[in-house]
Amino acid sequence: MSGFLGRGRGKVILLGEHSVVYGRPALAAGLERGVRATASSAEEDAMALTPWDVRVTPAQDDAPLGRALFAALSLYAERGAPAALDVEVGLPGGAGLGCSAAIGVAVIEALDGRYGVARTASERGAVSLAWEKVFHGSPSGVDNAVAAVGGVVRFVRGEGVTPVAFGRPLPLVVAHSGTASSTKVVVDGVRDRWTADRPKMERIFDAIAGLVDAAEKALAAGDLEALGARMNDNQRELEAMGVSTPALEALVGDAREAGALGAKLTGAGGGGCMVALAADAAAAARIEARLSTRASMTFTTTVGGSADRSDDAGDDR
Ligand code: MEV
Repeated sequence: MSGFLGRGRGKVILLGEHSVVYGRPALAAGLERGVRATASSAEEDAMALTPWDVRVTPAQDDAPLGRALFAALSLYAERGAPAALDVEVGLPGGAGLGCSAAIGVAVIEALDGRYGVARTASERGAVSLAWEKVFHGSPSGVDNAVAAVGGVVRFVRGEGVTPVAFGRPLPLVVAHSGTASSTKVVVDGVRDRWTADRPKMERIFDAIAGLVDAAEKALAAGDLEALGARMNDNQRELEAMGVSTPALEALVGDAREAGALGAKLTGAGGGGCMVALAADAAAAARIEARLSTRASMTFTTTVGGSADRSDDAGDDR
């Protein structure tokens, strides 16, 4: 297909979801799988998404995808001519894998090409916040930053991403609990609980911030056992925060029984996916085999030995 290409990665949050909305750090890894967009010339602005069989035009008061497209096109004040966007979505929506942010980043990269705008990947991640805000009111920005930049990063709201050096590749197994979740609904629920009992929620956010710092040191040292232990600790805090579900906890328990060094929900929770850290590729295969008996979808990905690369094995079930 001719036109200008854009790409956005999916992501897993290794530690720090939700507390990142409240200014604490998070660690996240970009996935090889994600979204591709092509922008070409057209009679009218429109966006078609496959395999969803959805086509939208930009609208300020329409369904979220139309509003998001409107927000993206508003970044190009002088553009003159319309654009047709063809978007191939290679991630499940509502799964905690950053699907909406990956679409936004891919669309904006394609539009940058079409309208001759030069941006670095991290600038693209930052401007994509306008897109992500359509889907949930107060995104921290971690999803769109990782969708644009990839690798393993530390993210702090308002400060952006710092690549994290890590000593060994990370074999990760992702499994879907079978229920889609809305990031907006889960983030709003955390906000309600924070309003009702601020000291409790702030204690949880501070505890997670300490875990993120410890996990970053473990990553740098290549100490996967210590990293896995901090992921397990993070899962306990997420349960105390009220964002886990019995289905996610069953998968977390299965992964640990099958030898995972650590396992936790990833993304907003309330459904969607969990992520397990394996010691090596053989352990990852055993964990994935176990998870696939209960999960609606699984895949294994190795986040590689440099800070800007991740490769999916692409083993969906
Ligand atoms: C969603 O992938 C991560 C959350 O922390 C929300 C956000 O950071 O915007 C739950």
